[in-house]
Amino acid sequence: MTADKHFEIFLATAPGLEAMLYDEVRALRFRAAKQVAGGVTVNGNWRDAWRANLEVRGANKVLARIDAFRVFHLDELAKRARRVRWSNVLRPDMPFRVEATCRTSKIYHSGAASQRIADAIHDRIGAPFSDDAAVTIMARIENDLCTISVDNSGELLHKRGFKVAVNKAPMRETMAALFLRACGYSGAEPVVDPMCGSGTFVIEAAEIAAGLKPGRERAFAFEQLATFDQSTWDEMRRAPAPADPAVHFYGSDRDAGAIEMSRANAARAGVAHLTTFQQTTISDLVPPEGSPGLVIVNPPYGDRIGDKKRLEALYRALGQTLRTRFSGWRVGLITSSAPLARTTGLPFKPPGPPVNNGGLRVTLYVTDRLP
Ligand SMILES: C[S@@+](CC[C@H](N)C(=O)[O-])C[C@H]1O[C@@H](n2cnc3c(N)ncnc32)[C@H](O)[C@@H]1O
Repeated sequence: MTADKHFEIFLATAPGLEAMLYDEVRALRFRAAKQVAGGVTVNGNWRDAWRANLEVRGANKVLARIDAFRVFHLDELAKRARRVRWSNVLRPDMPFRVEATCRTSKIYHSGAASQRIADAIHDRIGAPFSDDAAVTIMARIENDLCTISVDNSGELLHKRGFKVAVNKAPMRETMAALFLRACGYSGAEPVVDPMCGSGTFVIEAAEIAAGLKPGRERAFAFEQLATFDQSTWDEMRRAPAPADPAVHFYGSDRDAGAIEMSRANAARAGVAHLTTFQQTTISDLVPPEGSPGLVIVNPPYGDRIGDKKRLEALYRALGQTLRTRFSGWRVGLITSSAPLARTTGLPFKPPGPPVNNGGLRVTLYVTDRLP
């Protein structure tokens, strides 16, 4: 594959978030964006794949699709996999691993499929196989069609490379960014998270407003591919010094440890001066001075029997505070429980589809400006 050849790039997300990711990808002007199950596809070259890793806030992973062929049995896979142009993509000195999945296909043993592909790569270019390699070849065999992709991201993209501290139930940065977008947040208004935990929403919102690219600091698997060009990447990453936004971002939590974590995380992300974190319980919360913006919050969901009464009281107190003191603000609330969302008494619009958040189905509820 030459540097300028176009291919399909797949940006993966959690089911339920595809439409929000599609919006973001289109806004970033990627070519031929299409919403598909589990993500969004675009057309582009390697530079576009790097840019997707650098700029897209909502994707979990960026894959480059490098080949596809029909295959009906393992011997055929072994033979066909040898004809993939591995040397255009993989380096002989860099370890790799293979992850295969099989669905409704004659080949059903994913372990054996991975092994055939790994052997083909090793035979062709001599690269060493390693279970903990940063470079992963993904083979999806579905209806006897084998699609070969190379994972360009490596570690999942919610790991921006800044967070040192997390509390018990942190929201992933990727999901937080998409929920902010779904609330109509574009970086031009203040944001308040009154149950901020490790500060994810507040820090994402501040970064968006400051024009800081989510992948500006971290390492990516594509840096270990044959297609990588360090000087082009350095140039792409060298962002012009972003102007400080005119708006400010606020997090509070009743837990002192959460506030400490949020401050440390904001400092690492370079947005300490744009954020204020304060230990406050929801009933003592008052809006910041200045024009209204967005309140975004994911209160505890509770998973133990006996939590119900306590949580109802908490959601009622949250609703009471927002309805009586946050006139003019919009609210985005993420919870796994529709009855608890209703307990707030907030005027939510009909919600979108539920989203899988670490095994729990959560829904974003949004209001217009509160009266
Ligand atoms: C699900 S976590 C939020 C996680 C956060 N979005 C993050 O990404 O780290 C819920 C948070 O609500 C806080 N909390 C619970 N009751 C509260 C109350 N009455 N007032 C303020 N914060 C509260 C907890 O301390 C916890 O940090």
